[in-house]
Amino acid sequence: MNEDLHTSLLQWYESHGRHTLPWRNTADPYRIWISEIMLQQTQVKTVLERFYFPFLERFPTLPSLASAPLDDVLKQWEGLGYYTRAKNLHKAAQLAAPFMPKSVDGLLALPGIGKSTAHAIAAFAYAIPVPILDANVKRILYRFYGRREADEKTLWNLAEKLFDPVHPYEFNQAMMDIGATLCLPKSTRCEECPFQNACKGAAGDPLHYPAPKKSKSVPVRERHIVVYRHNGNYGLKQRTGRFLHGLWGFHEQTAAPEQGTALDSIVQVYSHFRLEAEVWLCEGYHEELTYFGREEIDALALSGADHKVLKQLSASRP
Ligand code: ADE
Repeated sequence: MNEDLHTSLLQWYESHGRHTLPWRNTADPYRIWISEIMLQQTQVKTVLERFYFPFLERFPTLPSLASAPLDDVLKQWEGLGYYTRAKNLHKAAQLAAPFMPKSVDGLLALPGIGKSTAHAIAAFAYAIPVPILDANVKRILYRFYGRREADEKTLWNLAEKLFDPVHPYEFNQAMMDIGATLCLPKSTRCEECPFQNACKGAAGDPLHYPAPKKSKSVPVRERHIVVYRHNGNYGLKQRTGRFLHGLWGFHEQTAAPEQGTALDSIVQVYSHFRLEAEVWLCEGYHEELTYFGREEIDALALSGADHKVLKQLSASRP
């Protein structure tokens, strides 16, 4: 039965796959790796239009990434968010240079490369017969096998069961395309799907699978962001903690400052909390900060929240 399914899937991929995606027109494991890391938490359209090509232009090879200063990598990553990805890319490049590992185990040993990403690189760059298991593939598997819930191990077993080891490249790319174009979280186009005759979900209500996740409400972090201005320069600090490590930002505190001009407030949603901050402009000197002219700030890597602050500053021109 799998054979027929695999034939249908191959034919579907041939005529409906997204063949022009640039990371599908290279066998360079470095380029494929960069695309996979970007695509982990960012949409294809955004990666394609704004980030993939400029990153590769700045860091065209593994050694060029490995030898670059982390600040440059963070600056190039600016706007993509989830900066741990950029730091892990940099660290992994230093560990692996001059060549990307050629096996799944070698890839897995690098920071930031989990099992599904290792399998994606292995299948796409080396045609190693291993399945991937990202959020799109999981959704297809839940529906295909009529599961409401399944743990990670079970999902990997189902991924192996459905997999086509003869065409690892096409199978994995096609699964991503079905997940992105037909088998969507809130709607499906089963009549166009190569799995329609074998899929348990398609036989009934596909949206019944998987069971909806209990939505976690994220905590709100209320802060005051104080922009210190001294002799026309602005004070910033490079973060050293785990969160947003390496990025530059304005001074943040829990209480309102005793003096300063209130600008607007900003909101920034992160994976584990929501930042709601009042923004203040304060003429004064804070000794923990480094002072930069307005243009110099553009060369620093800033978090999304600090970019919003900068925008307000430019808009207020006090
Ligand atoms: N998301 C992750 N990897 C991808 C790929 N190779 N093509 C399209 N979307 C993806």
